[in-house]
Amino acid sequence: RRLEDGTHFIELSALPTRIRIGETDLEALTYDGTLPGPVITLNEGEAVRLAFHNALHAPTNLHLHGLQIPPQADDPHRVVAPGQTVTHAFELLPESAGTYWYHPHAHGRVTRQQWSGLAGALIVRGAPDRLPELAAASEHVLVLQDLSVEQGLPAPHAPMEWMSGKEGQHLLVNGQIHPVLEAATGLVRLRLINASVARYYHLAVPGHPLHLIGQDGSFLEAPQPVNTLLLSPGERADLLLQVPAAARLELHDLPYARSAHATPRAAATPLATLEVRGPQRPAHLPARLRPLRRLADADARPDRVVVFGASMDPPRFLVNGQSYDRHRIDLEVRQGSTEVWELRNPTRMDHPFHLHVFPFQVLTRNGVPEPFLAWRDVINLRAGETVRIALDFSRFSGDVMLHCHIAEHEDRGMMANVRVR
Ligand code: C2O
Ligand code: CU
Ligand code: CU
Repeated sequence: RRLEDGTHFIELSALPTRIRIGETDLEALTYDGTLPGPVITLNEGEAVRLAFHNALHAPTNLHLHGLQIPPQADDPHRVVAPGQTVTHAFELLPESAGTYWYHPHAHGRVTRQQWSGLAGALIVRGAPDRLPELAAASEHVLVLQDLSVEQGLPAPHAPMEWMSGKEGQHLLVNGQIHPVLEAATGLVRLRLINASVARYYHLAVPGHPLHLIGQDGSFLEAPQPVNTLLLSPGERADLLLQVPAAARLELHDLPYARSAHATPRAAATPLATLEVRGPQRPAHLPARLRPLRRLADADARPDRVVVFGASMDPPRFLVNGQSYDRHRIDLEVRQGSTEVWELRNPTRMDHPFHLHVFPFQVLTRNGVPEPFLAWRDVINLRAGETVRIALDFSRFSGDVMLHCHIAEHEDRGMMANVRVR
């Protein structure tokens, strides 16, 4: 809905909802009664007012993951009591088209609320979406979630799952087990969002090359061919498939070991079928998408180091040796600066690093320069890996947080406050 001054007005509620997954009924938590929540579609540059109502029986809040908006307009320290409504008012930046999502962010409650269903897609459209090739593509937004059900409820966590991160036995694509998605011949565009609390997706369409055109809230400069794609929790990918003639394709989740302790599944799991119909049609890729400005050279020296760690007895997750304290500022950054950070993961499992509000470019992974540019907000740190990123702190001042996007780790302390001023 448009307000008189052109502002895009949106209402969203979190509420307990009875839903059906396969043959099972369960009491889930949803946004607006659907799992996943409704796709929110915005346009780059526009003013937005989003009224969020909490109809749950517990406190929650709404985080607009990846949006470059003032920290004050998306402050996860603010919790919304049951029955309360809060409004997020902000303006989207001119070149912010990309794939985003929303989910709860009340510290200590994120895992169970997200595991119970709370997540939804947020799409920002912009100039590259109007390129003739993309305008003609069949587009699907795929929200990837997983869930196990016990006695009509989202299954409880076993103690070990607070360490490893809980994975469900049902793999859900837009709330359905193995749906059939229809598309027309030509270019097929898939926007994938990993909205799982802890599960990684290692995606492939067997026999079919994928062309990556966007990551997180960013287009790439030009399409990049990839055979498989690893999507850690919180990450998004924008993909094109060239399907000039009618075909039936399968989206698979391939084995991937995210922890040195885990034995990976042996076989691929089918996630969804893509039913492509229609007469023969050309499927040309766009040559260029959007020029990006390089923030720093691959060999730039780091200004600071962020170490993800864990300790046993009692089990805790740490950033730079400390467990999260909402009253402590862990890193201070000068507004207007460009910084290079070295992210280290000396643990024996992967951790997806995420920073709010300020996107970054990956310079190197284990010393190897990143092959192409993108603005990222989640980057997976493999076990033992060191990743260098360049960050642009020019846009806003205020307090934001960085954390591991495995929700259990975040709730159990793998988070830090960053003050930009
Ligand atoms: Cu997806 Cu702190 O967020
Ligand atoms: Cu976020
Ligand atoms: Cu983690």
